[in-house]
Amino acid sequence: MKSRDYVFFYLNGKPYEVRGSDVFLPLADYLRVRARLTGTKIVCAEGDCGACSVLRGTSGSSEALEPINSCIATVGILDGYHLITVDALVENETLSPIQKQMIECNGGQCGFCTPGFVVALTGLAEKKCKEGCKSLSVQDVKNALTGNLCRCTGYQPIIDAGVGIDLKSYSSISKRFITNESEKALHLSKKSPIELTANGRKWFSPTSVSEVSKLLKKYPGSRILSGGTDLGVQINKGKTLPEIVIDLHLVRELHEISIKKNRVRIGARVSLSTLRRKLETESKDFSSFLDIFASPQIKNMASIVGNLANASPIGDTLPFLLVSETTVFVASSGGKRSISIDKLWTGYRQLSLKKNEWITHIEFSIPGKSDFVKLYKSSQRKDLDISAVNAAFWVSMNSSKKSANTSRLAFGGVGATPIRALKTEKALNSQSLVDFNKQELLDTLQKDISPLSDLRGSSEFRRVLGHQFLRDYLDQVRKLQ
Ligand SMILES: Cc1cc2nc3c(=O)[nH]c(=O)nc-3n(C[C@H](O)[C@H](O)[C@H](O)COP(=O)(O)OP(=O)(O)OC[C@H]3O[C@@H](n4cnc5c(N)ncnc54)[C@H](O)[C@@H]3O)c2cc1C
Ligand code: FES
Ligand code: FES
Repeated sequence: MKSRDYVFFYLNGKPYEVRGSDVFLPLADYLRVRARLTGTKIVCAEGDCGACSVLRGTSGSSEALEPINSCIATVGILDGYHLITVDALVENETLSPIQKQMIECNGGQCGFCTPGFVVALTGLAEKKCKEGCKSLSVQDVKNALTGNLCRCTGYQPIIDAGVGIDLKSYSSISKRFITNESEKALHLSKKSPIELTANGRKWFSPTSVSEVSKLLKKYPGSRILSGGTDLGVQINKGKTLPEIVIDLHLVRELHEISIKKNRVRIGARVSLSTLRRKLETESKDFSSFLDIFASPQIKNMASIVGNLANASPIGDTLPFLLVSETTVFVASSGGKRSISIDKLWTGYRQLSLKKNEWITHIEFSIPGKSDFVKLYKSSQRKDLDISAVNAAFWVSMNSSKKSANTSRLAFGGVGATPIRALKTEKALNSQSLVDFNKQELLDTLQKDISPLSDLRGSSEFRRVLGHQFLRDYLDQVRKLQ
């Protein structure tokens, strides 16, 4: 297929072709400066406040429009999507029902955060409408707004505005902006890869796994871009400016997710929101843990493979992936191979991938009836904050539930990489689950972990957190008897 040298999307129902260095811009800058749509605001520029929220719709999918942070989303990764900004919510000079609600409930003062809140609440109404819901609960609204900060109004009026949205009379805005014509045009364009050079930088969006591998071989210094939530922040802070970007979003098979027997297979481009929806019934503990991972805006973009590849010792999904026997599948121009997750991280933010290898997908187990799994996270704020320590524990019990066939205990934030607490696992496996020696297990854990001190917590504090997580888990195991 012939390549193209532009990014194509629909913005507020109109087709846009973006060329040259604009492809590398954060979407928020493109909207405000190039498209002259100044309703979208930029405050933190690192995904934390939600002022820059816009709605993104996936062409060819039945999923609802969902909010993303335009300040960290590079224009290039929005190729093939429908984008809707706050500027377009007014129809025939009439405010949208959500804008009216914000006014009626006094949901704004200086107004700088307001467009972001309106977009986040519109995303919630779109999603709930698709699910056939008739009303919104306080918790629905709070969950939808974890990615939005307001510095002056206070949150109660905004929550009141959200709860008051009348879903029975709400008419989805997707009908207004997503037409057969736009769907057809996006579908066609997504078949051709993107290849462009601007000011010495190169952008590639290949359409197949083998093309990604070929490009990595040809341009060894290039950077893979998945959801871009880690990379987008680093770029905005001036910490990195990749000269050659290989974006994965046009490779169809990387968006696939499937469950066979008790194994989940996830492509590198599957977002955390999609994963959460898919695992809602199969792995309740993991999917509800994702509620305290970042914000809806971040989860709508970020991938679990990006979390793994970013290799932070406090990546929140990593302890779970360690206990759920994850296999990491990698590719390069030399072929494909798999790596057990235990062998993936070799040191602080270092992966055991060979030169030009990249991750295509991962596979992990979901808990069965005889497995008892719990996930933990401690951070200074409950929502939208990075962990000091996180953990996941998995015990597979024998049929009488009196002893463990296997136990796997994993922690993040207690060393240079996420770790398995192998000594504690061995001690737990050798004891009965009815009358295990809790103190001995907690003491053994201290030999397994060696946390460092940093701004998120001292080494001593992290030891206490690890101790408390395990204590809570063991208390719950005892209650199963
Ligand atoms: C506001 C905010 C809140 C956040 N909150 C949390 C949180 O609560 N918990 C948490 O754990 N993280 C959090 N993060 C970090 C981030 O969202 C996650 O790490 C996310 O999973 C990264 O996925 P991504 O697809 O966006 O990765 P990207 O930014 O696209 O990539 C991350 C890194 O992995 C590399 N990479 C990506 N895909 C591949 C691949 N297939 N093969 C090889 N290398 C690859 C990239 O080159 C890059 O170095 C937060 C980030 C922000 C901005
Ligand atoms: S400007 Fe704060 S999240 Fe984008
Ligand atoms: S109204 Fe001023 S920041 Fe929210």
